[in-house]
Amino acid sequence: MKKMLLGALIAFASACTPAQQEMTREQLVQRGEYLVTAIGGCNDCHTPMTPTGPDMTQSLHGAELMFAPTIEMPWAPYAPTLAGGPAGYTEEQFVAFLQTGVRPDGSQARPPMPQFRVNEDDARAMVAYINALPPPPAQ
Ligand code: HEC
Repeated sequence: MKKMLLGALIAFASACTPAQQEMTREQLVQRGEYLVTAIGGCNDCHTPMTPTGPDMTQSLHGAELMFAPTIEMPWAPYAPTLAGGPAGYTEEQFVAFLQTGVRPDGSQARPPMPQFRVNEDDARAMVAYINALPPPPAQ
C-alpha cells in the first residue's frame, strides 16, 4: 500500500514538471538545432551543397539534390525550402509531418525524403528551430 502511494506521488510529481515545460523557448530551439543538424541530416539535402559540405549560410533554403537513384523509382530531385517553415504548413502540421511522414494534404513526400517518426517533443523542438531560421530572400 505504502509503495503504491509513493508510486502515485512520483507519477504526480513528474506529471507536474514534464521536461518540455521546464525548457525555455531558447533551450527548445537549441535542442531542435541539435536534432536537425546532428541527427536529422536535413541540411544534407535541403541546403545548397559545396565540395566541403552544406553551405550553412543558406541553411535549409532548399536545394537541388547532389545525388540520384541508381534504379528506377519515384524520386524528387529538389528538396524544398524549410527555413522559416515549409510553405503551406502550420506549426502543428509540420510537427505532425515529422511524427507521421504525412503532409497536410494527406500525401507523402517522395524519396529520398525520409519518413521520419520522431516523438512529439523532438518534433516540436525541430519545428521551433527550423521555423526560427531566416528564410531565403524573396526572389
Ligand atoms: C536524403 C535527403 C533528405 C533529407 C535528409 C531530408 N529531406 Fe526533407 N525532403 C527531401 C526531398 C527530396 C523532398 C521533396 C519530396 C517531394 O517533392 O515529394 C523533401 C520534402 C520535405 C518536406 C515536405 C515539403 C512539402 O512541400 O510538403 C519537409 C517538411 C521536409 N522535407 C523536412 C525535412 C526535415 C525537417 C528533415 C530533417 C529532419 C529532412 N527533410 C531531411 C529530401 C530530404
